[in-house]
Amino acid sequence: MEGRLTLSDVEGLAAARMDPYWFAFLQGGAGAERTLAENVGAYGMWRPRQRILCGIESASTHVTVLGHDLGSPVVVAPVAYQRMAHPDGEEGLARAAAAVGSAFCLSTFATASPQDVAAAAPDVVRFLQVYVFRDRSVTRELIAEAVDAGFSAVFLTVDLAVVGARDRERRVTWTFPEESLPSVRRAIAAGATDDALAMMDPALDWAYLEELVASTPVPVVVKGVLDPEDAVLAAEHGAAGIVVSNHGGRQLDGVMPTLEALPAIVDAVGDRLEVLLDGGIRRGTDVAVALALGARAVLAGRLPVWGLAAGGEETARDVLELLREEVSIALHLMGCESPAALSSSCLVPAAR
Ligand SMILES: Cc1cc2nc3c(=O)[nH]c(=O)nc-3n(C[C@H](O)[C@H](O)[C@H](O)COP(=O)(O)O)c2cc1C
Repeated sequence: MEGRLTLSDVEGLAAARMDPYWFAFLQGGAGAERTLAENVGAYGMWRPRQRILCGIESASTHVTVLGHDLGSPVVVAPVAYQRMAHPDGEEGLARAAAAVGSAFCLSTFATASPQDVAAAAPDVVRFLQVYVFRDRSVTRELIAEAVDAGFSAVFLTVDLAVVGARDRERRVTWTFPEESLPSVRRAIAAGATDDALAMMDPALDWAYLEELVASTPVPVVVKGVLDPEDAVLAAEHGAAGIVVSNHGGRQLDGVMPTLEALPAIVDAVGDRLEVLLDGGIRRGTDVAVALALGARAVLAGRLPVWGLAAGGEETARDVLELLREEVSIALHLMGCESPAALSSSCLVPAAR
C-alpha cells in the first residue's frame, strides 16, 4: 500500500517533478544562503512546553486576520510564476487555500490575473501583493482590478528595492516570457519597454506608503519589515499590518532570521497594527512557536508551492491541511485550546 504524504517528503517530490531551472528559482536564497538556512533553523531555538491533563477536547486553529476569520493560521505567501510549478498555477493554489479556510496572497508577478483567481476561487479570502511600477498608473489599475475582484488587502512588498544576489538563479538560464504575466502585459500596453524588474520603482519611500494608504480602499500591509523602528514607522504612516519577512532569505543575506526579529517588533508596535511573519515555516510546530512569540498568523511560501509542484491543487491542499492539522496537534499538546491562548510563556529557550 502506498503511504500517505508527509510534510517532510513534499520538497523531494517537488524536486523530482519540477523543471530544474524552476526548482532552482524556487529554492534559492541570496549570497551564501545563511539567512535562508537560519530562517528554518530559528524555530529550533525555542522549545514548546508540553502541558498535560488540560481537558481540551480539540484545539481550534482559527485566527482573525484583517477582520477575516480564517480556519488556518497559515496564509499562502505571494510567490511569483506559480504556473511554472504546475499548470494548476495560482488558481489551483487559491482553491487549495479556500479548501482549508486559509487566505491566498497573489503576487504582482503572478501568471494569473486577480480576476482569474477570483473566478477560480470565489470563496477564498484573497490579498494582492504589490511591487510598484515606475508607471504608477499600472499599479493603480492592478489594485483597482483586484479590489473589484474582491481582494480585501494590499500587501506592499518593500524588501526588493533591488533583487538580491542569487547564485542559483545565475547558474541557470532564464527562459520565462515575462510578457505573458498579466501585470507586465498591462505595463507594456501602457508603453513600458524594459524587462519586468526594471519596470519597478527602486526608490520608494514612506511618503509613497502614505499615498498608497490614502488612495487604496482596502487595508495596506507592509511586507518585508525586519527592524522595530521600521515597524513603528509603518504604523505611523498608516499601515494596517506588517509582515516580518526577509523575503525567504532571497534578498540581503546575513540579516536576522524572521523569528529572531519578531519579539522586538511585537514589543515596539503593541496593538497599533497586525503583525504577521513569514520565513522558514515547514511544520505545524513552527507555526505554534511564531504565534506564541506574537505573530497573529504566518505566511508560507515554498512549502505550499512544493505541494503545488508535487501534485497540483490536490497536493497543495493536502499540504495546507496537514499543516493545519499539525498546528492543532501542537496546540493541544501545549495545553492551548486556540491560538489566542498561546503566549511566550508557552515556550522555553532551547539549551545551547
Ligand atoms: C520562488 C519565490 C518567489 C517569490 N515571489 C515573491 C513575490 O512575487 N512577491 C513577494 O512579495 N514575495 C515573494 N516571495 C517571498 C515570499 O512571499 C515569502 O516572503 C517567503 O517565501 C517566505 O519564506 P518561505 O519560503 O521559507 O516560507 C517569493 C519567494 C519565493 C521562494
